[in-house]
Amino acid sequence: MEPSELSEEEVARYWDRNADLWAEQVRKGWDYYREHFNNPAFFEFVGAVTGKAALDAGCGEGYNTRLLARSGARVIGVDISKKMIDLARQEEQREPLGIRYEVASFSDLSLFDDECFDLVVSFMALMDGPDLGGASGEIFRVLRPGGKLIFSITHPCFMTKGYGWVEDENGYATKLTVADYFGDEPYVERWRFKGPAPTDARPFAVPVFPRTLSEYVNTLIRAGFVLEEIGEPRPSEDACKEHPWLQRWRDHATLFLYVRAVKPAASISSEGQA
Ligand SMILES: C[S@@+](CC[C@H](N)C(=O)[O-])C[C@H]1O[C@@H](n2cnc3c(N)ncnc32)[C@H](O)[C@@H]1O
Repeated sequence: MEPSELSEEEVARYWDRNADLWAEQVRKGWDYYREHFNNPAFFEFVGAVTGKAALDAGCGEGYNTRLLARSGARVIGVDISKKMIDLARQEEQREPLGIRYEVASFSDLSLFDDECFDLVVSFMALMDGPDLGGASGEIFRVLRPGGKLIFSITHPCFMTKGYGWVEDENGYATKLTVADYFGDEPYVERWRFKGPAPTDARPFAVPVFPRTLSEYVNTLIRAGFVLEEIGEPRPSEDACKEHPWLQRWRDHATLFLYVRAVKPAASISSEGQA
């Protein structure tokens, strides 16, 4: 597949193909990074959501959307993959939490009125879409003044296309190497969850759209957002004792980047107009 062919339609097809296996393994708790590191850290970063009208942008089959709803948010989930949304809706029918799911790209939220959400949360999805500028503009539009966009992505400075680990003879990671940080060609990455899934299970095939840190930050600023907080979670010593595979992310680099950005009450566009 040529990178130029990685349109949103193609991204949706990749995620449709991933969906059944993804839902099965996530629902079994086999996504160990999510369970033991990312979700505890990110939900703390998100903070209280009770009573908030929230959009989960790139919600997948809805695992974290359901956690948001159980924390008291009124949630709508959107995903570009119809298969993911079908699975999310089936789960909502099985155990209703009042969540509405729609097939939509986070770069085209025309289903929604201006200023109708208090909160847009996106879990590990914005690096998987080709149009970050479109997504930032649309998310800004649907947020109420004072509303927040809070998202997690793989850290763009460390999880580059050419990243790799150097390990000693005991398998202890002594350094992380980074390469091709400025490479902006989309590519398809194949990986499995770190967890008890069989190592010969089919890997997920995930289109990735690499961006630099400045591209993320400047795109948000251009859309009108004000950055409120950046998070770079580091596993605790206790977590590393319990899950030694986390140790390298305590010692050398951070795997995830969290961003909380606010739509200012009196919004100022990049041209400086109020
Ligand atoms: C790594 S998965 C994360 C799913 C979910 N947020 C979770 O934490 O389980 C990325 C998701 O982003 C979705 N996605 C990719 N591009 C998208 C886009 N332009 N609009 C909406 N969803 C998109 C994919 O279909 C996939 O479900």
